[in-house]
Amino acid sequence: MSVNKEIKRVTTHSLQEMKNRGEKIAMLTAYDYSMAKIVDDAGIDVILVGDSASNVMAGHETTLPITLDQMIYHASSVVRAANRALVIVDLPFGSYQGNSKEALNSAIRIMKESGAHGVKIEGGVEIAESVSRILTAGIPVMGHLGLTPQSIYKFGTYTVRAKEEAEAQKLREDALKLQELGCFGVVLEKIPAMLAKEVTDSLQIPTIGIGAGPHCSGQVLVIHDMLGINKGFRPRFLRQYASLYDVMNDAIQGYVNDVKSNDFPSEKEQY
Ligand code: KIV
Repeated sequence: MSVNKEIKRVTTHSLQEMKNRGEKIAMLTAYDYSMAKIVDDAGIDVILVGDSASNVMAGHETTLPITLDQMIYHASSVVRAANRALVIVDLPFGSYQGNSKEALNSAIRIMKESGAHGVKIEGGVEIAESVSRILTAGIPVMGHLGLTPQSIYKFGTYTVRAKEEAEAQKLREDALKLQELGCFGVVLEKIPAMLAKEVTDSLQIPTIGIGAGPHCSGQVLVIHDMLGINKGFRPRFLRQYASLYDVMNDAIQGYVNDVKSNDFPSEKEQY
């Protein structure tokens, strides 16, 4: 299906309409102006300024170290590039778990200082008060269930979540709670495809899957993974659309060789 260029700016309302008419939602991460410009020009519906910036931009092992100020810096760069896409920003670890007032203040800072269009927050019923308070301020909220990387030290691994019935049941209840509170969508990360289908069918709001099978209302990937910039990261759910590590590595080696052999700059490349 081709991109609907008639949409001037994707909104949470347009995402709901897309789910209603069965049009899949395409979401990707971006963290800087130049990448976000390419992503937006290519017709993506939602750009997620994910806290995966902690991994792919800053080289940390987990998403925990990234700060609210750093997320705002990434988000404001992305917002300046995005003409069509809805821009959603992760509330980073430590910016909302304390209490709902802190969560609201963090969400307000993101909206005010970056110009983004909404926030994403990891967790279910346990963060209901925070979600509700942020929504009351008129800030669109997207939930995130299943594998929630900010809780990595609680779970210990990045393996598939909610395979056991008790965890699956909690996820079903969490998803319904997030919808009831007023979230405009929910990310489902690394859960069995049939559970994602069940949750998607049970909700009115869209679900966006990553490693959650084909039945979600849309899909999200980390841009560095799908472009093959992260050479070593090849989980089963990832489709790699390019091998940019190799392309860039070849180009840079070519430059190094040209400089060292005095081939660059040539006569035409000087004043
Ligand atoms: O931070 C992120 O990139 C995310 C996606 C993987 C959904 O939360």
